[in-house]
Amino acid sequence: MKFVLLAALLLGALTAAHPGPHPEPDPVHLARRSALVKKCSDSVGLMKRKRHAMRRQADTDHAEVPTYDFLKNDTCLLTPETSTGPYVYPRSEVLRQNLVQDQPGVPFELDIGLIDIHTCEPLTNALVAIWHCNWQGKYSSFTGLDPDISFPKQYQQATGKKLELTASGGQGDVSFLATDTTTWLRGMWPTDHHGVTRFNTVFPGFYTDRAIHVHMQVHTDWTLASNDTIAASRTVNTAQVFFPEQISAQIMSVPPYSNHTQVPRKALSLDGVYVTESGTGAMTIVDTEPVDGKDYRNGVLGYITLGVDTSAIHDGSTESPNPKIS
Ligand SMILES: *[C@@H]1O[C@H](CO)[C@@H](O)[C@H](O)[C@H]1NC(C)=O
Ligand SMILES: *[C@@H]1O[C@H](CO)[C@@H](O)[C@H](O)[C@H]1NC(C)=O
Ligand SMILES: *[C@@H]1O[C@H](CO)[C@@H](O)[C@H](O)[C@H]1NC(C)=O
Repeated sequence: MKFVLLAALLLGALTAAHPGPHPEPDPVHLARRSALVKKCSDSVGLMKRKRHAMRRQADTDHAEVPTYDFLKNDTCLLTPETSTGPYVYPRSEVLRQNLVQDQPGVPFELDIGLIDIHTCEPLTNALVAIWHCNWQGKYSSFTGLDPDISFPKQYQQATGKKLELTASGGQGDVSFLATDTTTWLRGMWPTDHHGVTRFNTVFPGFYTDRAIHVHMQVHTDWTLASNDTIAASRTVNTAQVFFPEQISAQIMSVPPYSNHTQVPRKALSLDGVYVTESGTGAMTIVDTEPVDGKDYRNGVLGYITLGVDTSAIHDGSTESPNPKIS
């Protein structure tokens, strides 16, 4: 079985706001998806309620945080394995929840819940690693690369060779392209006894050819090196998650994001990874609310629930980093 992604969509209005064509998931995937939705929907619903209740408790100073309709448990979705993309770099993923360091941007708190799709129980003590680009589209450790130039071109410039995808469609290990030892906007933290982990970061920007996204990987059986990076693990899930188009547009309209004018931002509906995931029925859009209950430009809360197939290795190495939209 391919890996499974559970995603929670609270805001019907936001879903409806995604413009552009959406490919129809094929019937086989849809059947599997609805079987899984049925199987785990009560657990997903329960987990969502708990997370939002905890959030409201933690936010007593934000009495106006809006209440959403949590009764929809519409969430358990299959995707093919998702590419890690070229900028996966475990040696810069440090054990920490605050990833910001010196990076400017709109504050972004991301709440990630894991459900084991075999048991429909929260997956506890799994290490979740996330990484994403900054307002300029740069990734830490690769700051010498130009986010406005496509990866195959960068690869060719750096090596003098054409980027060859591996037999399985992945880009292979290109970590030798790293240019420095910065680690911002990368980190990892284990899930708690509710199967939930949280990160404080800034909202990502974008780079050429891609919609705004966050990469994540889930590791079980993990051990750490003395410098709090991963020493060994079993990678059971590799995902890329996205944002409602309207929210991305609002946030990109304010500095420093608004300074990134060299290349146009790719709309969600034109992003190859998003379209490929969606084509299988996957729901990879983060649920969002404004931190102050009012204005996304002041800060964003995001929630995503991943269905993890703990019995298989899904390390993201077998997919094209930039699938073509057919
Ligand atoms: C959603 O999940 C909750 C909590 O587990 C459950 O009580 C409710 O019946 C579920 N709703 C639907 C429509 O399945
Ligand atoms: C952690 O240690 C590994 C192995 O020595 C090294 O490659 C990596 O750069 C270190 N990472 C950090 C963030 O210090
Ligand atoms: C953004 O552009 C403005 C106007 O050109 C400039 O003053 C400002 O320093 C830039 N900010 C960043 C973060 O580059």
